[in-house]
Amino acid sequence: NREEPLYSNVAREGAVSCLITSRDIELKERLGQGSFGEVMKAEWKREDGRTVLVAVKMLRSDALALQGAFGEFVKEVNAMIGLNHPNLIKLYGVSLSSPYMIVQELAALGSVLDRLRKECSLTSVAILVEWAKQICNGMAYLERQRWVHRDLAARNVLLSALNKIKIGDFGLMKSLNPEEDCYVMTEHKKIPFPWCAPECLKKRQFSHASDCWAYAVTLWEIFTFGEHPWAGNTGAQILQLIDQEGQRLPKPKACPPEIYRIMLHCWSHRESDRPTFAALTEFFRTVQLEVL
Ligand code: ADE
Repeated sequence: NREEPLYSNVAREGAVSCLITSRDIELKERLGQGSFGEVMKAEWKREDGRTVLVAVKMLRSDALALQGAFGEFVKEVNAMIGLNHPNLIKLYGVSLSSPYMIVQELAALGSVLDRLRKECSLTSVAILVEWAKQICNGMAYLERQRWVHRDLAARNVLLSALNKIKIGDFGLMKSLNPEEDCYVMTEHKKIPFPWCAPECLKKRQFSHASDCWAYAVTLWEIFTFGEHPWAGNTGAQILQLIDQEGQRLPKPKACPPEIYRIMLHCWSHRESDRPTFAALTEFFRTVQLEVL
């Protein structure tokens, strides 16, 4: 029974209000393409009679027949249940009647990557630093809850307002057991090489420390206003550059030196030399930058 794992989890968490019927969802325009179907803007008519704007991740109607797509849908929902932080996209509920949908908080301004590429000249360095800080706060929450995101990148960092970061896309997220300090990837998935730490590329090991590496690549995307990290290099070439030759992405012109120093720290070769998100949060809490 395909509904079993998802429903039992929803029920176990005591979040029965998570079940939404598709009759209460009125789809609006398309926001983008997710891994298992389209992402739409929608109006959700809640039980209390209020209507709220939401983002809806649809499972393609043909996807139930596609191997793996339903599993991905369940994994993403399971990862989102119980997450509650102002800098993470919140799960509102799921619809388990056709079409299957994940109903979540809307980040109305879209991804920081799209925004930077379209409107870079309107975005001040002070705002970029504020984004860096809020992404760090969201990641520090995940670190405290022992979740490894595995796909942190500017394309997955959304904005609900110009100064309100919402990290999204929890499709690859993994929970670490108390005795584990990393997750060894066994599934065959495309992984985004330019955001990967050397131990991900060499040993498929993902941890808070590899999220930290990806965080610094995300900062690099932000301070270059949306350039492609390691453009023109294959995965093998990137590994050669970062692992054998010790190269790192260059300081973006707009990046304050204190922030570039943080990025280089996050790109330490040894995982244990990289800062925790808890330590980075403390840095952002206390740092005084000249640009601000
Ligand atoms: N694209 C993917 N998820 C989204 C969300 N929650 N809000 C806006 N756009 C999105």
